[in-house]
Amino acid sequence: MSTPLENTTASAHVFPPPAEFAAAAAATEGLAAAASADRLKFWADRSQQLLHWHRPFTEVLDWSGAPFARWFADGELNVAYNCLDRHVLAGNGDRVALHWEGEPGDTRTVTYAELTRDVKRAANLLTSLGIGQGDRVAIYLPMIPEAVVAMLAVARIGAVHSVVFGGFSSESLRARIDDAQARLVITADGSWRKGKVTPLKPAVDAALAAGPTTVEKVLVVQRAWASDQKLGWQDGRDLWWHDEVAQVSDEHTAKPFPAENPLFILYTSGTTGRPKGILHTSGGYLTQAAYTHRNVFDLRPETDVYWCTADVGWITGHSYVVYGPLANGASQVLYEGTPDTPHSGRWWELIEKYKVSLLYTAPTAIRSFMKAGREIPGRFDLSSLRLLGSVGEPINPEAWLWYREVIGADRTPVVDTWWQTETGGIMVSPLPGITTTKPGAAQTPLPGIVVEVVDERGTPVADGGSGLLAIPEPWPGMLRGIWGDPARFVETYWSTFPARETGPVYFAGDGARKDPDGDIWLLGRVDDVMNVSGHRLSTAEIESSLVAHPWVAEAAVVGASDETTGQAVVAFVIIRSRHAEDAAAAGTTDSLRAHVAQQIGPIARPRELFLVNELPKTRSGKIMRRLLRDVAEGRAIGDTTTLADATVMRAISERFTAEHHA
Ligand code: WTA
Repeated sequence: MSTPLENTTASAHVFPPPAEFAAAAAATEGLAAAASADRLKFWADRSQQLLHWHRPFTEVLDWSGAPFARWFADGELNVAYNCLDRHVLAGNGDRVALHWEGEPGDTRTVTYAELTRDVKRAANLLTSLGIGQGDRVAIYLPMIPEAVVAMLAVARIGAVHSVVFGGFSSESLRARIDDAQARLVITADGSWRKGKVTPLKPAVDAALAAGPTTVEKVLVVQRAWASDQKLGWQDGRDLWWHDEVAQVSDEHTAKPFPAENPLFILYTSGTTGRPKGILHTSGGYLTQAAYTHRNVFDLRPETDVYWCTADVGWITGHSYVVYGPLANGASQVLYEGTPDTPHSGRWWELIEKYKVSLLYTAPTAIRSFMKAGREIPGRFDLSSLRLLGSVGEPINPEAWLWYREVIGADRTPVVDTWWQTETGGIMVSPLPGITTTKPGAAQTPLPGIVVEVVDERGTPVADGGSGLLAIPEPWPGMLRGIWGDPARFVETYWSTFPARETGPVYFAGDGARKDPDGDIWLLGRVDDVMNVSGHRLSTAEIESSLVAHPWVAEAAVVGASDETTGQAVVAFVIIRSRHAEDAAAAGTTDSLRAHVAQQIGPIARPRELFLVNELPKTRSGKIMRRLLRDVAEGRAIGDTTTLADATVMRAISERFTAEHHA
């Protein structure tokens, strides 16, 4: 039973929308009414209002090939035209699209007219390199304007981009290049991060050196070094971006493509060792990105300055740095570096400098600012902020309240947005002019979106119950498949629950609870996917990287809860007996951790790694991660009755306790 104090705390902390905010908000009650009256008409209307269709669609949804959906399929549009040309034609060419700030403090202001011209040139360049509709282009760039230009130029000619986060290793890059059979890589010499240059081009060289490849050319943006820097140039393959764009015309007419033309592939971690290439297409994706960006963030394109801190290498960067904001003609901040370089108030300094009004970031960042103390943001003028957003992992009520009080001056609405790489856009979120918000809850499916909390058989739970998050109706921004692997697509997402009369039901992989008011609270992943600092990592992928090390016989990885990063990677490793002596030397755990960072990327480096003699397994040989998680989180070990050998856990937990308190 909860104490009276807990009850008061819970009910005291709800925040109705401020009256002035509600009076002027983009999203009104009419949205939900329209969506429930006729959901498909609702989406058709949104799409027509928000986008320019070169050829209007007559059909909204074709679900006959479920779970392979087709939205607006007989319509034609150009995604880049929607993000650029039409704003210029409407007289907004002088509006700032990007307030770019490099980590060292260099800046560039790019208007819509300039961005349009840059994308036209880049589109001509891609065409001159032989890239055409349907070809895949890998983009491995830092947060510089060219990242946006490259993505839009690929979209403009109907090609398909695969952006690979600059923090991924050359091995990860190579695997993604191979899976998509990319013909071109666009990269930079390096980027500024934490006051130093992180080289990128050398990682591309290493990736391409690993055997025959489909890549024909590498375009290199000069960002970090002077031109005389020798970068291991391969003549005939490597080209400087600035040399090449200077040679092509800045005239380019955007050609329409079918609504279902593939727009991008974005790789994300699943429950196996192999990342999945999530495929998104054009018309439906852009509709949902624009609709959610406008309504969830209450965007006023003429006056707002918006800032989403996500990297373009993640889905948040795709939908809420590139496609949503630019389709809506927003002005936004783009920042290259880390929050604490050259000083710990860097973000707040940028908000003051650019008068940011809408901020979208991740709970992990908020928690680390909380730790550093409110004095740091307190030194800056944050009064321009009028709305705060959160994404990537469940936000704990304490962080939510701190965000609102310290960053939002106890005044701004906070929207906790739930969605995934697979959903393409936001699915569950408060609407800031309508919803009375509850700290820690994503609350309500957006108008037009159907999301349920169901039990294992797919039956919706009653208010007050817990279960799994499921999506029983198709939505415009939904993934259209896993690149090259339709069977895995069906199996991973559409086979958990029995199909309904309306078709198969999508399983998100998240656990959720419905409170007595029917509001949704996310509870984290229920599969073997971890969420570290808002980034998805697969336990299986890290395990296979560990067993690829010659000393390692077996490995088990779990996500243990972590105060700052949400979850942290904790690994348990068995060393091969013939390497026992090598491994006994000091530094082995560190070098295995470094091995993972080198193979996958620094974000995957285990926080802790323990050498053990055995792993807890069921009689059928399945590793019981639940028990390892108990150990890693310092809890009493749960039920061990299904273990083949119950003494194993005692040995592991003694080892853990000894090392932890050493
Ligand atoms: C988690 C990021 C709780 C969730 C957009 C999901 C969240 C995974 C939230 C997708 C939130 C994202 N509350 N959990 N507001 N937002 N998640 O593909 O577990 O990188 O399945 O997309 O992040 O991560 P992804």
